[in-house]
Amino acid sequence: MPPRPKRLDRLPEQYFGALLARVTSAAVLEGEQIVDLGRGNPETGPPQHVVDALAEASNRPTAHGYAPFRGLPELRAAIAHRYATVYGVEVDPDSEVAIVPGTKTAIVELSLVLAERGSMVVLPDPWYPDYPSGPALAGAALETVPLDPLGDWQPDFSRAPSGDVAALYLNYPSNPCAAVVRDGTFDHAIEYAREAGAAVVHDFAYADLVFDGRKPRSFLATPGAKDVGVEMFSMSKSYGMAGWRLGFVLGNAEIVERINLLNDHCRVGIFRPVQEAGIAALTGPQDSVAERAAIYERRRDRVLEVVDAASEGTFYVWFKLPEGGLTSEQLLVEYRLALAPGEGFGPSGAGWARISLAVTDETLEVGLERLRSALSD
Ligand SMILES: Cc1ncc(COP(=O)(O)O)c(C=O)c1O
Repeated sequence: MPPRPKRLDRLPEQYFGALLARVTSAAVLEGEQIVDLGRGNPETGPPQHVVDALAEASNRPTAHGYAPFRGLPELRAAIAHRYATVYGVEVDPDSEVAIVPGTKTAIVELSLVLAERGSMVVLPDPWYPDYPSGPALAGAALETVPLDPLGDWQPDFSRAPSGDVAALYLNYPSNPCAAVVRDGTFDHAIEYAREAGAAVVHDFAYADLVFDGRKPRSFLATPGAKDVGVEMFSMSKSYGMAGWRLGFVLGNAEIVERINLLNDHCRVGIFRPVQEAGIAALTGPQDSVAERAAIYERRRDRVLEVVDAASEGTFYVWFKLPEGGLTSEQLLVEYRLALAPGEGFGPSGAGWARISLAVTDETLEVGLERLRSALSD
């Protein structure tokens, strides 16, 4: 066996894999059944017409060959139509849209196609735990821009690094902070990217999951965005298709081309029926998108009766654990309640925890009862 390439050793621990293993090992110990509010794994699937489209397409004898490397043109047109009609953004479906097998893949690949070994990738702190993997594989240095808790979790660019920055990652609505973007944030990001010669990568995974009458806000709607950056759109959250592995990278044509080039070599297309079901989701009735957001908003309200926090979107509540008191590990062991410990969400995550709303109402209620009692003990 040849020695393990160093790039694998550079990878951080897979946070959600480790969390799952920790919860599983706690679950076998004696005690009440664990309530898991740790993972963000949508509990409701897509609407029936999407499942039907998959079944129908996979019953066609022509479904099983290789799909076009760069995806079905109708799927690229369908997401371009959503961008035009819902987010007010024109994208060219041929040159400004790449189809990817879930955006998690693109999170990593974008670092590979943007960063040279030794350059910097700037992540928001707190970050989504899968972000550090891309810079690690690329051999890039990981730097951060703090999200200011007193400034609605917007980036404080006065504390962002300068120098050889390859990419700046941002994510609104934010996982884990559950904040939406404020006026000016994307403009400042574009300005920063221009000055640093960097690209902006905006993760729009929770695009449509916004509460209290808010409207989704795409990075690409900001003047100049396409000159410097791309946005990732996922079918997982808006349409409840997390296990289907379907998403998009949209915007700057050069970056889209680089992603397509990498995927020509290592992915070779996506199963055609999954793409056809994606078309059905994007072009069929859209009621389920708003219904999903309403369900999470209702659950968010329940959580805010128990913890002192805010949540403007996503399906999370991010909150500070009591000073010098309770830890996520204690909640797991003593109260049989799994939350996502803040430590995996970047340097500023220590002492915080993330509650997921992507569970049934019944599970959430039992979890909240345990949390209430832990907070009052
Ligand atoms: C912020 C963020 N980005 C991206 C993803 C990945 O989504 P996908 O299912 O498209 O890979 C997630 C999934 O939880 C997420 O929370």
